[in-house]
Amino acid sequence: MRRTLVLLLFAAAMPVWAAQPVRARHGMVVTRERHATGVGLKVLQAGGNAVDAAVAVGFALAVTHPSAGNIGGGGFMLVRLADGQTTFIDFRERAPGAASRNMYLDAAGKATEDSTVGYRASGVPGTVRGLEYASRKYGKKPWAELLHPAAELASKGFALSYGQAQGLRSSARGLSRFPESNRIFLKGGKFYEPGEVLVQADLGRTLERIARLGSQDFYEGETARLLAQDMKEHGGLITLGDLKQYAAIERKPMTGTYRGYTIVTSPPPSSGGVGILQMLGVLEGTGYEKAGAGSASVVHYMTEAMRRYFAERSEHLGDPDFVKVPLSSLLDPNYIRKLRASIDPERATPSREIHAAKFNGRESNETTHYSVADGDGNIAIVTYTLNGGYGSKVTATGLGFLLNNEMDDFAPKPGEANMYGLIQGEANAIQPRKTPLSSMVPTIVMKDGKPLLALGSPGGPTIINSVLEVIVNVLDFGMNVQDAVNWPRFHHQWLPDELRMEPGYSPDTVALLEKRGYTVKRVNAQGEVAAIRFNNEWLEGAADPRTEGTAEGH
Ligand code: DON
Repeated sequence: MRRTLVLLLFAAAMPVWAAQPVRARHGMVVTRERHATGVGLKVLQAGGNAVDAAVAVGFALAVTHPSAGNIGGGGFMLVRLADGQTTFIDFRERAPGAASRNMYLDAAGKATEDSTVGYRASGVPGTVRGLEYASRKYGKKPWAELLHPAAELASKGFALSYGQAQGLRSSARGLSRFPESNRIFLKGGKFYEPGEVLVQADLGRTLERIARLGSQDFYEGETARLLAQDMKEHGGLITLGDLKQYAAIERKPMTGTYRGYTIVTSPPPSSGGVGILQMLGVLEGTGYEKAGAGSASVVHYMTEAMRRYFAERSEHLGDPDFVKVPLSSLLDPNYIRKLRASIDPERATPSREIHAAKFNGRESNETTHYSVADGDGNIAIVTYTLNGGYGSKVTATGLGFLLNNEMDDFAPKPGEANMYGLIQGEANAIQPRKTPLSSMVPTIVMKDGKPLLALGSPGGPTIINSVLEVIVNVLDFGMNVQDAVNWPRFHHQWLPDELRMEPGYSPDTVALLEKRGYTVKRVNAQGEVAAIRFNNEWLEGAADPRTEGTAEGH
């Protein structure tokens, strides 16, 4: 009887239709791959802090999620320490010293595929330096201990899931062009089946060397030497000098407020943080949320905020160490008020009436975000990538890791589309040692000085909007974090002037939006959010059901 009563009370407090996050009190790891999640959890259970676990997960995903996890790419880590300090580690790729503005144009001035496939597509990788920087400054576990699980997953192998086997198969066309990729990831053209064990012996040896010798091996030692030689033999640009010179950059996170919450987010060369802050600024005070989550009116207001920000992005955003990014103008309250006032509450504003360059895109899920929190109040969240799925498709000879094609995040030809259809301007033109503009945006939301939500996503340009949507689902629509992640997403990026919507919106809602003037396009899945909600003493982990992500806590 007593038991029934407890159950009834429990049921009343927790509606049956809500999806539940994974709850724990002492630590939480959310990644898109189960082995990597397990590696992070073990580090926390062994007394490592959130940064230690994030470093170990970074290396593990380089083995178990080869389409995006990497040591041949780069990314961003956002950290909040228990003492309240926040910091941002930029370990994104940089253009090699020999890179030049027109390096991807043929004799007729046409952009070639070289920015996306093959040895010339890679920027200087930053992951190993970035993770080492984080570990030295903010971690407490020995470096080698954090790499050991990854090295073992590589050398002993792990059983491929359905999604992993499928992912390799669907990239066979690109991977098979490069002998090392074909041998390691496609079994020489025979393909891996789900359940089969993928062994990556070369990668295991590389990781063991990095475990023993630190990033020195990758940037100046044996790995550097082999990588530079491979580049030279295949017309790539990355030299020993480029590798030696690579440094991670610690930057101040961007912060802003929204309805009494503090948003701690990613500064340039991310274009995401300023976007999230501008779009939240535009929404604040409109009362848009009153119409209810999923309503045509909510989608309308959010889309208009997106459209306006993406027009700015194409014009103004680039590497802040090379170009002046007008952050304060973009976030000036008077300017935001003007943007807000330009929204017609009932009608879509045609993008041709919003001025800046053309910006046109497609999406894929080949970047990855993971979130870690420990029981002491430290948070480390990372979005890192090879850019496209399996990056440039090149596996470095004898080293076993895939190289990025991040050079395509520059404007290979300012004014013409890159791989995501992004047409970007001079601010993001190629220059030696410059960092390409990114949409990756690890973000932490705080309330009254305490963390409330930590999240990020892959998805190219859609990243920014996916993160925005999960934030408002929690803050404005009161969803629990799992519902907020599951909720159907949508995306507008100014140009093309179309509203992309996942399934899950009713035909009535879509019809209302079309009546307001939107061209609605259905898409399958957008992004892959990994979020943690801090709910009093509980850590609530939400992996994205759109892919094979997992959350585990203790
Ligand atoms: O940094 C960026 O914005 C891109 N390289 C991210 C690419 C990405 O998310 C691909 N997956 N969807």
